[in-house]
Amino acid sequence: MPAYRPPRIPSSEITPEAVWTRRRELLKSMLLAPALLAGCSRDSEAEAAAAAPEAEPEWGRPLSATTGSPYSTREAPTRARDATTYNNYYEFGTDKADPARTSGKFKSEPWSVEIAGEAEVTGTFTLEDILKPHALEERIYRLRCVEAWSMVIPWIGIPLGELLKRFKPTSKARYVAFTTVERRGEMPGLRYPVLDWPYREGLRIDEAVHPLAILAVGLYGRTLPPQNGAPLRLVVPWKYGFKSIKSIVRIDFTEKQPATSWNLSAREEYGFYANVNPDVSHPRWSQATERRIAGDGFNLFGNRLKTLPFNGYAEQVGSLYTDLDLRRNY
Ligand code: MTE
Repeated sequence: MPAYRPPRIPSSEITPEAVWTRRRELLKSMLLAPALLAGCSRDSEAEAAAAAPEAEPEWGRPLSATTGSPYSTREAPTRARDATTYNNYYEFGTDKADPARTSGKFKSEPWSVEIAGEAEVTGTFTLEDILKPHALEERIYRLRCVEAWSMVIPWIGIPLGELLKRFKPTSKARYVAFTTVERRGEMPGLRYPVLDWPYREGLRIDEAVHPLAILAVGLYGRTLPPQNGAPLRLVVPWKYGFKSIKSIVRIDFTEKQPATSWNLSAREEYGFYANVNPDVSHPRWSQATERRIAGDGFNLFGNRLKTLPFNGYAEQVGSLYTDLDLRRNY
């Protein structure tokens, strides 16, 4: 996404996990080959290895949640392995593999969130207090990154609007601003001035209380791993992924439109609204299609899908924008 690249090994020289996994498998099969040729007992071992499904990774703790939300898509979820190793979380580095690799020191417990601004109830709340009155729900959503790749992720979370109501926003509250934690000792990417840290995002309040917008605490039946935004992140499925801010420590009710990180960094490339829109190209690439991530070295060329307006959620959210020129308010 950024024009700036920190001084580091070019990503072309780093072998993506899927590539080295395949390379390892290839090497293994080459090592086994002589035994196979000799017709020895390694035969059945090799067959068993080939037939065994790849184990899905585990992280955090299991979470239970209600399933079958009418808001969930029936599309097949992306493999958990891909969703947890191909990430954008620049506080941990700008390569897709960095967040899973460099977030080992990140502490997501204990966690608290500061609520501030135009609301009757403000202060600092523990994550437990934030979640206590809400039932956790599974929501299977498409995630469309502004970089033109996409996934389908089974999130677990709570409707953002139901949480915001508890703080009793005043009539002046027209926007909600979110801030990510900033911990230099645990987030190695903060050393580089890729963005004006901390990462900040915002929504208009009517967008924030739309039932599709959730605060996620988990995915694939488990708590969020650091690379996906532990312990609390936003998910706004009709907007480009950069709106879905991770590891939230502050929620502010504001009268004015808040400054947001990508918009501050390149105003003409990343708008405040950032609604998924196949008709408005990014200045450097088309948004008409997307690459659905599906293993195999993250299929750099295959699985091209047509991008849908509002990422396929137009029926639910289109009415929020009837008064807006979506070409100007990109
Ligand atoms: N939040 C923070 N704090 N820092 C980031 O770099 N990247 C955004 C968003 N939230 C980002 C962030 C972008 S560009 C995308 S596409 C999504 O997170 C990716 O979410 P995922 O890694 O869980 O798929």
